[in-house]
Amino acid sequence: MKVLALNGSSHSHGVTYAALKVVADELKEQGIDTEIIHVGSRPIGGCVDCRKCRTDHRCSYNDQVNEIIDRLDEFDGIILGAPAHYMGIPGTFKAFLDRFFYATEHLEGHTHLVCSAITVCRRAGAIDTFHQLNNYFACSNQVVIGSQYWNVVFGWKPDEFLEQDVEGVQTLKVLSGNIAWALKVIDATKDTIPHPVIKEKRTRTNFCR
Ligand SMILES: Cc1cc2nc3c(=O)[nH]c(=O)nc-3n(C[C@H](O)[C@H](O)[C@H](O)COP(=O)(O)O)c2cc1C
Repeated sequence: MKVLALNGSSHSHGVTYAALKVVADELKEQGIDTEIIHVGSRPIGGCVDCRKCRTDHRCSYNDQVNEIIDRLDEFDGIILGAPAHYMGIPGTFKAFLDRFFYATEHLEGHTHLVCSAITVCRRAGAIDTFHQLNNYFACSNQVVIGSQYWNVVFGWKPDEFLEQDVEGVQTLKVLSGNIAWALKVIDATKDTIPHPVIKEKRTRTNFCR
């Protein structure tokens, strides 16, 4: 089993990476691999609503968004990690996520993955960012996993988080146990309790009548 962890920070090895690594190390102990992919290292433009993805099922801008769409079959779970930038998802990561979820029609064909969001801040805004990340899972038929407290950690530098945010580290370790359990349950029951089949074609009512 393998989990995709997207690091939406501008720092490839900052606090968000350290938080994702805590989870990856815990999952490893449970026999689950994690690939941490850094999304913030290259400029990424936002969705221009060209709607070509409605026929192509990929984004018309061929960049890291399509690279990861093409690899979705490899993963049983997705973790989104991001720092708070002005109490929200950093711009580059937001651009990525909008196009990633829109181009795949909310991960159509990749539903019931084990998913969770982790946010980081120096002082304030991690909860707003946490809500924003979870919005992507909540409209895409995913299994969202929580912990003993919200997946929010604090720090300006990785060591500050790892050494001083004792509760944050513990929250992530408990989260990892919950993720591992859900992955194993879904895997063990895949033949007896398959994923719900969404029989009807998606209906879109564009305004309330
Ligand atoms: C543009 C920008 C905006 C930020 N906005 C906030 C904020 O609203 N609240 C906060 O606590 N920290 C804010 N920060 C600080 C980062 O969230 C914090 O340093 C975090 O540890 C960075 O994690 P990283 O090392 O994974 O990038 C901001 C940083 C930047 C660069």
